[in-house]
Amino acid sequence: MKQMIIHGGKPLEGDVWIGGAKNSTVALVPAAILSRTPVTLECVPRIADVDNLMDLLSEMNVACSFKETTLKIDPTNITLSPLPSGKVKSLRASYYFMGALLGRLGQATVGFPGGDDIGPRPIDQHIKGFEALGATVKNEHDQISITAPKEGLHGAEIDLRMPSVGATMNIMMASVTANGQTIIRNAAKEPEIVDLAIFLNNMGAVIRGAGTDTIRIEGVARLEANVAHTIIPDRIEAGTYVALAATIGNGVRIHNVIIEHLDSFLAKVEEMGVVIDSDEDSLFVYPAGDLKMVQVTTNPYPGFATDLQQPITPLLLTAKNGEGVIIDSIYPRRTRHIPELKKMGANIDVQNNIILIHPGTKFKGTTVTADEIRAGACLMIAGLNAEGTTVIENADNILRGYDRVVQKLTKLGADVTIEDM
Ligand code: EPU
Repeated sequence: MKQMIIHGGKPLEGDVWIGGAKNSTVALVPAAILSRTPVTLECVPRIADVDNLMDLLSEMNVACSFKETTLKIDPTNITLSPLPSGKVKSLRASYYFMGALLGRLGQATVGFPGGDDIGPRPIDQHIKGFEALGATVKNEHDQISITAPKEGLHGAEIDLRMPSVGATMNIMMASVTANGQTIIRNAAKEPEIVDLAIFLNNMGAVIRGAGTDTIRIEGVARLEANVAHTIIPDRIEAGTYVALAATIGNGVRIHNVIIEHLDSFLAKVEEMGVVIDSDEDSLFVYPAGDLKMVQVTTNPYPGFATDLQQPITPLLLTAKNGEGVIIDSIYPRRTRHIPELKKMGANIDVQNNIILIHPGTKFKGTTVTADEIRAGACLMIAGLNAEGTTVIENADNILRGYDRVVQKLTKLGADVTIEDM
């Protein structure tokens, strides 16, 4: 395990470049095995989740090489291999191997997925989708075995109970090579879904409507990668740096941003009084003056992202006027950062899963624990604002999803290091 040590209170300024989206990458790497030819992904973030996915690929005899931000994956000699618990537990996105293996080999055995502890995270909609396509699904001994019928999967009409990102992507991967047409209704509309559709379509898939709530997929016989795919910028990483820049920035330019992907988040931050200039693909965050509290409710895209409710919390805690409220409608129990923030002097409470933020916080350094990735991002922002030294234990959770975070923060002027615990 690793810990992050922050000597806080240093104003940050300068330029930071956002990496490729974690939640796109963790789907596109498994999806690469759908190709019969080698795949090249560009703008891949240097995060621990990618290393773990590469380990899983090597268990399937899929060769990978990762230089700078280019990841080459050669799935031509893929072999069917069960992916039991162990590595699979280290990241939730290992569930994408269910859809990808099913689409490529007609069979998948994958340990029950792990991932961030942010309350209940069922996968019933994924399984409902695989079954609708004709697969048999067995859930035994903490692993899920999925088998296509002898004649292969067939197209189906699937109505999701909620617009699940994971279920939408998994059904897309399983159905691209099914016989006939699949329609996913109430599909998730996140930008990462569109990125996956572009990636698959460039390999010969026929997917229409990604980014709307109805996705239509015409099954094709085989997929082959011909061109390199560049992963979209990480909107959650970008939002995290906006929150950071607004709390302790002395003028920070955030590059490689698709601004439209951050509309709901930026609207809230600007409502608080933060001044931001934008051009085609960068944001400049001015040092903030007196901010006012706002109310935040998370929702599926294009609503305010659940993954940004923790990063915006330290910003709300710096506001001078009013009372702030955060309601996470996606993961109501995503509140494990609150007791840690309180240790740092935050004036914050949770009542019935509603987060109440009061004015008057002055962060002070202490030892806290990052129970999950975005809780880690929240504590990191608080630590950078705090007087004294903050030690964030379980910082592995930050490194799982934040691209070269120590280098980026150091370049902005922060005093941050990672050490073994
Ligand atoms: N849900 C079900 N059944 C299902 C699937 C989802 O009840 O079969 C529920 C969930 O419990 C949740 C809601 O539906 O309340 C939405 O979940 P979704 O399936 O969209 O989430 P996910 O695919 O498991 C991805 C991201 C999360 C992000 C959510 C929401 C990945 C690997 N994870 O999770 O990212 O919070 O979408 O946008 O893409 C993070 O990056 O910090 C993170 C947790």
